[in-house]
Amino acid sequence: MTDHTASNGPTLPYVLVLYYSRQGATRTLAEQVASGVESVSGIEARLRTVPAVSPVCEATAPEIPDEGAIYVEEADLRQCSGLALGSPTRFGNMAAPLKYFLDTTSGLWMNGALVDRPATAFTSTASLHGGQESTLLTMLIPLLHHGMVYAGVPYSETTLLSTQSGGTPYGTSHLAGSNADREVDADERSLAVAQGRRLAKLALALTSMRNARP
Ligand SMILES: Cc1cc2nc3c(=O)[nH]c(=O)nc-3n(C[C@H](O)[C@H](O)[C@H](O)COP(=O)(O)O)c2cc1C
Repeated sequence: MTDHTASNGPTLPYVLVLYYSRQGATRTLAEQVASGVESVSGIEARLRTVPAVSPVCEATAPEIPDEGAIYVEEADLRQCSGLALGSPTRFGNMAAPLKYFLDTTSGLWMNGALVDRPATAFTSTASLHGGQESTLLTMLIPLLHHGMVYAGVPYSETTLLSTQSGGTPYGTSHLAGSNADREVDADERSLAVAQGRRLAKLALALTSMRNARP
């Protein structure tokens, strides 16, 4: 997994697993999605995060975060073969730091850089009915504007039918509980891995399709 490595000169195509996480739950899901990506040969996962945003405009973050993945750069997104986007649910929507980063990507949009690349999303909430689906569905909107091909989690992953916690056809989700102390459970974990594996296969297939264009 290309976690703390420089982002230039990849030898293999990669799926960018881009997340924001304050308390670690979305980061754990991201790591599971990345392990699913890396279970497919010929492609790797690149884990990246985004800095927090602050209402104090002078506030700056260190260039290297204290823990977790390093911060994403535009080139990480421009050169990816697929994108898995993860955010905690905040009032039924994605967290501002991730949206802030997406709002800097209009250059990629103008060039059609992400057209026909597959994408997916994942989230974590405090409460089971606290907006997992609304977060995932709204996360997909900017990806569609970029021309990406959205892939959720199909019900052929039968864990979707039996899970008592997270897991939706729109993407993997996690129930963290009101104290944010509920671990990612086995069902959520297996769905996140399956989601990453599926995205990696789609990334390879769509890369072939784009390369075959006249
Ligand atoms: C500002 C804010 C808004 C939140 N909104 C929701 C919400 O709408 N629904 C919910 O279930 N949890 C909500 N939460 C809780 C987080 O989604 C939850 O703790 C999540 O597991 C955090 O993920 P992380 O560990 O990756 O930071 C909110 C938390 C914060 C700080």
